[in-house]
Amino acid sequence: MGFDQYHEPPQELPEETRTFARLCASLTEEAEAIGWYEQRLAVERDPEARAVMADAVGEEYKHFCMDLEFLLRRKPKWREIAQGVLLQEGDIVEHGETAEAAAGDSASSDDSSSEPRVLAGTLGIGSLKEER
Ligand SMILES: [Fe+2]
Repeated sequence: MGFDQYHEPPQELPEETRTFARLCASLTEEAEAIGWYEQRLAVERDPEARAVMADAVGEEYKHFCMDLEFLLRRKPKWREIAQGVLLQEGDIVEHGETAEAAAGDSASSDDSSSEPRVLAGTLGIGSLKEER
């Protein structure tokens, strides 16, 4: 197993950041598997093989969704944007722009690690987090 999900020295990262990175890597792997099954199903002619692969890709859909839900539960701003984009009818890009703008305006939509924001508020020095 590689450690490609880390872009900073792992020993310097908090445990929760390493867990988050692992789930990001897992989400990527599930998306890749979905893409691979899509390609295999596009070319496979054997009905029994197709049935097996169709069942398998359903598992990958489930895994992707569970990984995404885990990540969204830990990043309120990401979750807020996702709620404005996912499972919505209409223009995807328009929903994305609207959701991003709304999340940027929301005081409660910051990163899930709220401690620096609380400290900043009590000291009157503004947010220590990167503004986007
Ligand atoms: Fe999977």
